[in-house]
Amino acid sequence: MSLKIVIIGGGSSYTPEILEGLIQRQSTFPVTEIVLVDVEAGKEKVDTICQLGKRMVEEAKVNITLTWTLDRRSALQGADFVSTQIRVGGLTARAHDERIPLKHGLIGQETNGAGGIMKAFRTIPVLMEVAKEMNELCPNAWMINFTNPAGMVTEALLNHSDHKKIIGVCNIPFNMRHSTAELLQVPPEEVLIQFIGLNHFVFGDKIFVGGEDRTEEVFQKLLQKEFDYSPANIMPLEWSETFMKSTKLLPNPYHQYYFQSETVLKKDLKAYEENGTRAEVVQELEESLFELYKQESLRNKPKELEQRGGAFYSQVACSLMDSIYNNKEDIQTVNTWNHGTIPDLPYDAVIEANCVITKNGPKPISIGGIPAPMRGMIQNMKAMEELVIKASISGDYQDAYNAFLVNPLIQDEKKAKKVLDELLEAHKAYLPQFMRV
Ligand code: G6P
Repeated sequence: MSLKIVIIGGGSSYTPEILEGLIQRQSTFPVTEIVLVDVEAGKEKVDTICQLGKRMVEEAKVNITLTWTLDRRSALQGADFVSTQIRVGGLTARAHDERIPLKHGLIGQETNGAGGIMKAFRTIPVLMEVAKEMNELCPNAWMINFTNPAGMVTEALLNHSDHKKIIGVCNIPFNMRHSTAELLQVPPEEVLIQFIGLNHFVFGDKIFVGGEDRTEEVFQKLLQKEFDYSPANIMPLEWSETFMKSTKLLPNPYHQYYFQSETVLKKDLKAYEENGTRAEVVQELEESLFELYKQESLRNKPKELEQRGGAFYSQVACSLMDSIYNNKEDIQTVNTWNHGTIPDLPYDAVIEANCVITKNGPKPISIGGIPAPMRGMIQNMKAMEELVIKASISGDYQDAYNAFLVNPLIQDEKKAKKVLDELLEAHKAYLPQFMRV
């Protein structure tokens, strides 16, 4: 058996991670062909990644052909898995998403608040095209989507494209599981967190180790020690005892934006004054990573890549593809259709949930309704996501305004308009759907 993997956005500095993951799994997941796809502006980068990838393949002595192309349609022919990791408008667009809201006293973040909504507006139409092409050129292939905002993108594609083999993934549940394992000093494979919620808005309900409920102990330990489970892009703040004891839920690092908004805003403003936006920090990091990638002597994924917030994403992608291919029926946390798993959310909504991974895709495991303290919040977030998806497709100003209005990080109706107008102007080259007259 030989498998073909296509990586859309192959010029991303993260790509060496997924290449490493594919190389390491070759004995159980027999990939023989990998095609990196990018756009004209990413040509130089994708070439650098491809050269490095070839050295990694040589070093590992595996039989994988690695190529790159700008011709997405030709790449998709005969693909078995397609990983999507694109950034429409690049880091310059991300910098606008972060800076413009901040200027108006709102949190500026690439997947939350106004910035996250704009990222969805730029991304959804492009990935709808990819899904359409997949349905025509490789109808049996699975799309593994990393592109942020991953939950909304996955819902948009599942509900509005004809291609239905789409799964959204994120490194946050993976990180939470691994840091919990570190906290308890047990192997990560033994930790099971019952997740409930949405991408970047997911909570841990109960934590089991080898079947034993250790939730209380994890909460205690989290409160006692300074323990950082935030990825590199999020400032680590601590949670109060009152929060943990009252909600009885394990928050993910992105919840700081919602439940510690003032503190985060202050810290973000300070960080912005000192170092610029996260996009600008990442831009510098990327430049040095690419310098490193160009070195002929580099034949493996460099450690420096771990400075990126999405580090370890490839482990999530590779275990998912491996489990689908081998029908492993193991449990992984992915973004997929709710279909009644969480009764408090719409049937066709996409949720982030523990799923049994089969050759027919993920089967979410129900743990019942959303715990009362967060029920309203999660329902509100889902309603906001639905409005974002609607606007991404319609390109209607009023739809976009409605999404801004109900986003908990925006709320103020006048600011919503100001920030939306400025962002629409800043991103107009990437928002053709909003520019129709
Ligand atoms: C986290 C998130 C990802 C996000 C990344 C950003 O890990 O889960 O969705 O893309 O951070 O990291 P960066 O290094 O680009 O700021």
